[in-house]
Amino acid sequence: MKGYLAAFLNEYVPKIDAYLKGLQFADQVGARLAAPLNEAMHYSVDAGGKRLRPVLTIMAYRLLAEDWQRALPVAAAFELVHTYSLIHDDLPAMDDDDLRRGLPTNHRVYGEAMAILAGDALLTEAFRLLAEEVDAGSEIVVKLVSGLARAAGCDGMVGGQAIDILSQGKTDQGNIDRESELLETLHRRKTGAMITASLLAGVDLAGGDPFLRARLTEFGSLIGLSFQVADDILDEVGEEENLGKNIGSDRELGKLTFISLFGLEEARLRLADLHHQAVLLLEPLGEKGLGLKALADYIVKRDR
Ligand code: IPE
Ligand code: IPE
Ligand code: MG
Ligand code: MG
Ligand code: MG
Repeated sequence: MKGYLAAFLNEYVPKIDAYLKGLQFADQVGARLAAPLNEAMHYSVDAGGKRLRPVLTIMAYRLLAEDWQRALPVAAAFELVHTYSLIHDDLPAMDDDDLRRGLPTNHRVYGEAMAILAGDALLTEAFRLLAEEVDAGSEIVVKLVSGLARAAGCDGMVGGQAIDILSQGKTDQGNIDRESELLETLHRRKTGAMITASLLAGVDLAGGDPFLRARLTEFGSLIGLSFQVADDILDEVGEEENLGKNIGSDRELGKLTFISLFGLEEARLRLADLHHQAVLLLEPLGEKGLGLKALADYIVKRDR
C-alpha cells in the first residue's frame, strides 16, 4: 500500500508545488514597493509541507473525472488558506513557534507585521483563485467559495483556533465529559473542517454526486480528527527533524490535546479506532477508494 500512495504522491505533489510556485502574488508596483510581503508569502508556501489538502481535493476529483489538472487552482486555494493558518498559528500571540516546514517561522524571518499581512494576503488570494482561475460554471464556483469559507471561518478553522487558545492552560479543570467534548470540537474545527472541505471541493468541481458527497463528508470528518490526534501524538513523541517543527510545544503551552486529556496510550487507541471507522466507509467505493485508503493509513502511521 505504501507504494500505491507513493505513486499517487509522486504524480500530484510536484504538479501542486509547481502550480503554487508559479503563483504571482503581487503586481509590478507591489513587487517593487512591498517586496517583503510578496517574499514572505512565497517563503511559507514554497517551503513545502505534505500538501495533504490539495492531494485530497485531487483524489476526490479523480473519483468522478480524469482531467485532474483542472482541480489544481482549487487544490491550491486550500493550500494557501492552510499555509496562512500555519503562519498565524506560529505567531508569538498564538503558539509562539520558531520552526515550521523545516525553516524558521515566517515572523522570525520577516517580522510579525509582515507575517500577519502575508497570512491575510494568502487567505484573500485563495478566494481570488476560486473566483478567477477555476474552469467551472458560476454555480460550482459559488459552491467552492462557500465550502472554503465555511471551513476556514469562525465555525471552522478560525473558530477551532479560538477554542484552542481559550482552553489553553485550563486542561485540569472541569469534568472529563465536558473537556472531551470541547477537545473533539476544537480538533474537528481547527483541522477537520479544512480536511473535509478539501475532499468535498474535489467532488463539487467534478459535478457532485450525492452518495459520494455524503460518504466523503463522514470519511473526512474521521480522517480530519485522526490527523489532529496524530499531530498531538507527534508533538509529544515525534522527531523535530522529521516534522520540521518544534515538538513539546503543546505541553509547554498547556494545550488541551488528546495526550493531555487521555494520555499517550489512550490517544493511540482512539486514533486506531478512528482509522478503522474511516476505512470501513470506503468499502462501497471498491478499487476506486484505494488511494483514499492509503491516505487514511498514512495519516495514522505518519512520522512527519
Ligand atoms: C499542521 O498541518 C497543522 C495541523 C492542522 C495539524 P500539516 O501537518 O498538514 O502541515 P504541513 O502542511 O505538512 O506543513
Ligand atoms: C494548528 O494546530 C492547526 C491550524 C489550524 C494551523 P497546531 O497548533 O497543533 O499545529 P502545529 O502543531 O503547530 O502544526
Ligand atoms: Mg496551534
Ligand atoms: Mg501550533
Ligand atoms: Mg500540533
